[in-house]
Order: sequence, then C-alpha cells, then structure tokens
Amino acid sequence: MAAKRYVLTLAYGSLSEAEVEAYFTNLNLNYRVVGRVGRCLILEADEISPQIWSGLAGVYKVAEVFAEAGEAEGLNLNLLAESASDKMKWAVSTYSDTRDSAEEFAEALQQSLKETLKAWGVRKTKMLRGDLQKVGSSWEYEVFSDRLQEERVVEEGFEVLAVRHKNWLIGRTIAVVDHLGYRRRDLERPIQDPKITMPPKLARILVNLTGCKRGETLLDPFCGLGTILGEAAMCGVNVIGVDTDANRVEGARKNLRWLLEEYRIKDVKVEVYVGYAERLHKILRGRVVDGVATEPILLPPLKQPPTDQEAERMLEKASETYYRSLPSISKRLKPEGKAAIVVPCIKTKRGRIVSFDIAEEAAKVGLRLYHLHSVENFPILIEDPTQRVMRGVYLFKNG
Ligand SMILES: C[S@@+](CC[C@H](N)C(=O)[O-])C[C@H]1O[C@@H](n2cnc3c(N)ncnc32)[C@H](O)[C@@H]1O
Repeated sequence: MAAKRYVLTLAYGSLSEAEVEAYFTNLNLNYRVVGRVGRCLILEADEISPQIWSGLAGVYKVAEVFAEAGEAEGLNLNLLAESASDKMKWAVSTYSDTRDSAEEFAEALQQSLKETLKAWGVRKTKMLRGDLQKVGSSWEYEVFSDRLQEERVVEEGFEVLAVRHKNWLIGRTIAVVDHLGYRRRDLERPIQDPKITMPPKLARILVNLTGCKRGETLLDPFCGLGTILGEAAMCGVNVIGVDTDANRVEGARKNLRWLLEEYRIKDVKVEVYVGYAERLHKILRGRVVDGVATEPILLPPLKQPPTDQEAERMLEKASETYYRSLPSISKRLKPEGKAAIVVPCIKTKRGRIVSFDIAEEAAKVGLRLYHLHSVENFPILIEDPTQRVMRGVYLFKNG
C-alpha cells in the first residue's frame, strides 16, 4: 500500500513526539518523520485509522494529506464532496512560517471552498472562523480543536488543514483529541484537588509512554487522587495505586469507581492502598507490574522567580523522595517494563531551567533511560512560558 502523509498538531512539543513514537512502536506501526513546521509534525505511514489516532492524548489534530500545491486555486476538492451536505459546518486552518502566508492561504482556501460548495449545490453551510496567532516562530490561522469537537466538524462536515512545507500540504482533518472527555474526567470526578493532580491528558501520555496494553497492570506508587490510574483504566489496563495519605487513597477509590461507572468499564481490576512507595513489597508481596507511571512531587507555583540557589535547594529536597523510592519501584517492575516518571523543573531569575538528574540513581537500581529517536535529552521538558514551576518527564526501561 502506498504511504500516506499525515500532519499532526502537537500539544506538548517533544513530549507529544515521544508519545507518538512510543505509541506506534507499541502497536508495531512504522512511520517516518518527513518534516516539522512550528508545532506541526509531518509523517509518512501506511494508512492509520482515526480510532488509532484518537488514542494519542498529546496530539490536537491529525489530518490526512490529499494534495500538494503552490496555491489554493484549482485544487481538486472532490474528495470532500461526499461529506458536504446542507447546513453542515466546515473550517479551514493553516500553519506557516509567515503571518501573511498563513492568512492569505486560509482566505484563498475558504474562497475556493465556498465556490466549490456552491457548485455542488450545497446550501446554508456554516464556516467556522479561525484565530490568527503566532506560536513560537511560526504562524497559524487556526480553528481550535476543541471547537471542532464541540461543533462535530470532523464527523458531520470537514476541516481542510494546510501546512506550508516547501509547497502547501493540504489535508483533511480525520481525528481531534477528545477534549470533552479529558475535561469531563478532570472536572466532573467526585474528588478534585488541582494543587496536587495532573491534567488527565498528561496522565494519558504517561500511560502511552509505558506501552502498557489492555489486560496488563500499571502501578502509580504516588497515586494521589488517581488521575494516572484513571487514564490507564480507560485503556483497559489494570491499575494499582499507592499513597501515604489515607484521604487521597479514599479519594482515588471514589474517582475510579465514578470513572468505571461513567464509561461502563467492566474488565479492569482496580486496587488502591495506603502505603509507602519505598516499601512496595509490603503491599505487592511477590507481584510485579508491567509499567509504572507517576508524579511523586508537584511543587507549588512560585510567586517570585527564585535564584539558582533557592531553586536548587527546593529541588534537592524533592529529589530525596525520588531517590528513596527508585529501588522499590525497580523491584516491582517486570524486566523490560517501562517507568514514566515526572520531575519538577524550575525557571530561575536568570532564566535558567533547573531540575535534578535521577538517571544516575535510577541506573544503580537497573532502571535505564529508554532510547527514543525523538528525544535528545531527559527529562523531556513540558514548557510553559506562564509558569516558573514546570514538569519534566523521564522514561526508563527496567533491566
Ligand atoms: C503530586 S501527588 C500525585 C498526584 C497524582 N498524580 C494525581 O493526579 O492525583 C504526590 C502524592 O504522593 C503522595 N506521597 C508522598 N510521599 C509518598 C511516599 N513516600 N509514598 C507514597 N506516596 C507518597 C502524596 O500524598 C501525594 O498524594
């Protein structure tokens, strides 16, 4: 089968790229990165279904490329004809290196589509307008993916997505991330505490990094209110959570009961215990798990940027929790099993981003950095220009 080209808009930069690599490796799917434009990643792969794409949490949109052109006029849009119907909603998004080209190509595409729809006799359609914004060094005229989902554009109409990579690559959006589902699991679960929990989307990325499959078991030894456990359960993975705080353990149990009921998940085993991550053998006895995903410490937001020394002091204290639990985690993880571990990273007054290196301590207990082509250095930083405390992600393989 001829390779297809896909354009992905990444939510978390290199972490999203790492997720794509881990996810495809786990599914034995081959792909090749053929380009990057701003936060768009362009891939070549055999045909991949929208269902498979929707398992990725760190990708906002996926478009399948159907044309390559220098301009919007004269494009063959027949492929969209069968999705065109009266009163449908449609959209155009463009991604480029300059403001003018993003804006002009979006306008030209919109014009072309209006004429085409008219020629097809389709009436009263609604075009969703996008926003023009600069992202890093590139420009986007974008209809946001949450809007596409809310308006059911992919299912009941279409979005044409174009990215300027030498020529314009023009595609049709075939999948958008399930914003509504992730938001619901974040904001409708019975027990919430944004001071300690992570966004469910990030939790799903961690689960995908571990490569845990349906029927396998994932452990979060610092489980808090069970966000990571919930996302693993959504994938059909059995879960074990541990936390020293009995109230949080109770909270995690309630949240997981709610999730299993809401999503009618029947075939997943859930266990959450009060205990210490340093003494997992007390809880798990001889058992081993297939994957570990965890965030042991989430530092509170800082009002003032700290000096390098202040940041290093905070991190040194936090690092102890990590070092103490690594031996126990490694013993409970099966050989070749993967552990995705989140560490705090701090932006200091001087603009430096400091963190601590758990790789050396991890190596002493057999946890080795897992090589991914898309990752230059661990931790993979989740950059957030609005925050002084950010997250970094390590991925290890046991043995
Ligand atoms: C940052 S929170 C994790 C939150 C979780 N990712 C979520 O989204 O709900 C870290 C958790 O680790 C727990 N904790 C701290 N030290 C621990 C230890 N030594 N063993 C197990 N849990 C511990 C805390 O009670 C806290 O709930």
